[in-house]
Amino acid sequence: MERNLSLCFVLVFLVPFSTLSFVNAEVTDISRDKQALLALKARISDDPSNILTKNWSTTTSVCSWTGIACAGRHHRVTTLNISNLGLTGTLPPQLGNLSFLATLAIRNNSFYGSLPEELAHLRRLKRLRLRQITIHFIKMQKITMVVPGSVNYFTGAIPKEIGNLTQLKWMYLGHNKLQGEIPGELGNCTQLERLDLWNNQLTGVIPKEMGSLTQLKEMYLGGNKLQGEIPKELGNLKILETLSLANNSLMGTIPSLIFNLSSLIFMDFSNNSLSGSLPENMCQHLPNLGMLWMSHNQLTGPIPHSLGQCRMLRSVWFSGNQFGEHIPREIGNLTSIEFLSLAKNKLIGEIPKELGNLKILETLSLANNSLMGTIPSLIFNLSSLIFMDFSNNSLSGSLPENMCQHLPNLGMLWMSYNQLIGPIPHSLGQCRMLRSLWFSGNQFGEHIPREIGNLTSIEFLSLAKNKLIGVIPKEIGSLTQLKEDVSWRQ
Ligand SMILES: *[C@@H]1O[C@H](CO)[C@@H](O)[C@H](O)[C@H]1NC(C)=O
Ligand SMILES: *[C@@H]1O[C@H](CO)[C@@H](O)[C@H](O)[C@H]1NC(C)=O
Ligand SMILES: *[C@@H]1O[C@H](CO)[C@@H](O)[C@H](O)[C@H]1NC(C)=O
Ligand SMILES: *[C@@H]1O[C@H](CO)[C@@H](O)[C@H](O)[C@H]1NC(C)=O
Ligand SMILES: *[C@@H]1O[C@H](CO)[C@@H](O)[C@H](O)[C@H]1NC(C)=O
Ligand SMILES: *[C@@H]1O[C@H](CO)[C@@H](O)[C@H](O)[C@H]1NC(C)=O
Ligand SMILES: *[C@@H]1O[C@H](CO)[C@@H](O)[C@H](O)[C@H]1NC(C)=O
Ligand SMILES: *[C@@H]1O[C@H](CO)[C@@H](O)[C@H](O)[C@H]1NC(C)=O
Ligand SMILES: *[C@@H]1O[C@H](CO)[C@@H](O)[C@H](O)[C@H]1NC(C)=O
Ligand SMILES: *[C@@H]1O[C@H](CO)[C@@H](O)[C@H](O)[C@H]1NC(C)=O
Ligand SMILES: *[C@@H]1O[C@H](CO)[C@@H](O)[C@H](O)[C@H]1NC(C)=O
Ligand SMILES: *[C@@H]1O[C@H](CO)[C@@H](O)[C@H](O)[C@H]1NC(C)=O
Repeated sequence: MERNLSLCFVLVFLVPFSTLSFVNAEVTDISRDKQALLALKARISDDPSNILTKNWSTTTSVCSWTGIACAGRHHRVTTLNISNLGLTGTLPPQLGNLSFLATLAIRNNSFYGSLPEELAHLRRLKRLRLRQITIHFIKMQKITMVVPGSVNYFTGAIPKEIGNLTQLKWMYLGHNKLQGEIPGELGNCTQLERLDLWNNQLTGVIPKEMGSLTQLKEMYLGGNKLQGEIPKELGNLKILETLSLANNSLMGTIPSLIFNLSSLIFMDFSNNSLSGSLPENMCQHLPNLGMLWMSHNQLTGPIPHSLGQCRMLRSVWFSGNQFGEHIPREIGNLTSIEFLSLAKNKLIGEIPKELGNLKILETLSLANNSLMGTIPSLIFNLSSLIFMDFSNNSLSGSLPENMCQHLPNLGMLWMSYNQLIGPIPHSLGQCRMLRSLWFSGNQFGEHIPREIGNLTSIEFLSLAKNKLIGVIPKEIGSLTQLKEDVSWRQ
């Protein structure tokens, strides 16, 4: 209510300005810029550090104000950067009067309300940064640092007039509460290089007009409510490096032209309802692909053998689909891979011994498939492994006696619900970093090795439902980190 009232006040207050003609004034008038900035200042309801309150003084030149830069023949405002000031407020339509503005950055504040369509007057705008937080990609495949700041909560729709911003290069509107559809007019912003609409509440389809954005390098549309199919026109985006569509409700098959975008580094389709199978030659034209995330869809068919040709892959996330047939041996060619999850699919056959070539692998998850045969012993030689999950398959045979000799980093070893036999190796005590060990639901026999008492970091331990005999070794008593009741039932 209070917000509505102050909004009305500002609008009423400014009505006289709307009668002014702006056609001729555009070229020289710095006072126009000043009025626009004062209108913005009037919309700020909280300025915790008093920066605007004190610094944006009507008695000084606009160009000396904090966050403002002027340039050009007529010395007009070209940059408005009030990021990180903790401001609360809304954006006034007068912002559209800053005709020479090239950079508009109000990241990490608490702005709310809708984006004024007058922003479309800013024909020289190159950078529009309204998103809440920075996302740093460290090590390429992992979003490791998400630094939350104050939250900008822009609501309402993206004005279709946005298509008038033909000079726009960066558009960062992620982490707001924008609703409605992505306007097809966005396709008119043909200079766009980076588009971030991540984590809003956008609905409707991905407009096929986006295929006109041929300068685009980054497209983040994840975390919305987008529906329908991925338009094949995206196959025109020849220099695209990032395509992130995760956490939407997209369906249909992935257009095969997407796999021809040879500059792609990061592809994220996780958490949609995509179906169909992947093209057999999918990795023929993807020499730079580092991350391929497709988890939690309804993809079927085999995992293409050509996957081994995506030589730069560091992270493959295929879990929660319906991929069938064998795991292709060619995965063993992906020597840069650190993360491989094929869990919860319908994979059959044996685990290819070529996986033993993946020398820097940290995560290997093959759980919840129908894999059989023995676990290739080379896998226990992958000394960078941190997480190994083979649970819920039909794996058989026994574990190598020296299995923990070369696994100094292993923190999680999950092998529950298979048909593994033989003793639990004494070398287990050498996996000194183990925090979680799940061996339940197998047919492990003989005594529990005393060396289990060496696993001083262990928090979760389950050996239930096996054929273990003898007494529980007293060394277990020294495992002070254990968090769960250990169960020993036969
Ligand atoms: C500034 O923008 C407002 C709203 O878009 C407009 O009505 C007005 O004419 C402009 N004022 C000046 C001084 O140019
Ligand atoms: C406003 O801040 C700028 C530095 O950002 C400074 O140069 C200027 O003198 C300040 N003006 C006033 C009136 O405080
Ligand atoms: C805006 O100002 C902040 C400092 O508060 C700076 O870190 C950032 O790089 C600036 N952004 C732009 C687009 O100039
Ligand atoms: C956001 O702004 C606050 C000050 O308002 C600052 O302390 C914080 O470091 C900023 N966060 C980021 C991610 O820049
Ligand atoms: C957008 O551009 C069209 C054609 O150039 C023009 O007629 C229209 O007034 C512009 N709209 C805005 C909001 O600037
Ligand atoms: C802008 O986009 C609309 C809708 O996509 C299209 O009809 C129109 O021709 C485009 N205008 C320009 C100037 O490109
Ligand atoms: C998808 O959702 C998960 C869980 O809510 C989140 O961790 C992930 O960052 C989201 N990804 C995108 C691209 O929105
Ligand atoms: C994919 O790209 C290759 C070469 O880069 C080209 O020969 C082929 O025709 C393209 N395929 C399609 C379906 O466009
Ligand atoms: C998928 O979305 C759900 C619900 O938002 C979330 O819990 C889950 O973590 C997401 N999964 C991935 C892989 O992003
Ligand atoms: C890829 O893997 C296959 C099967 O493991 C192997 O025969 C082939 O030589 C490998 N290709 C390259 C280029 O390393
Ligand atoms: C495998 O299936 C079990 C039982 O349905 C479930 O608890 C577990 O989370 C699944 N694991 C994976 C990695 O999908
Ligand atoms: C491991 O456990 C065995 C048997 O409990 C014990 O003799 C040995 O000293 C332990 N090794 C280390 C390195 O703690």
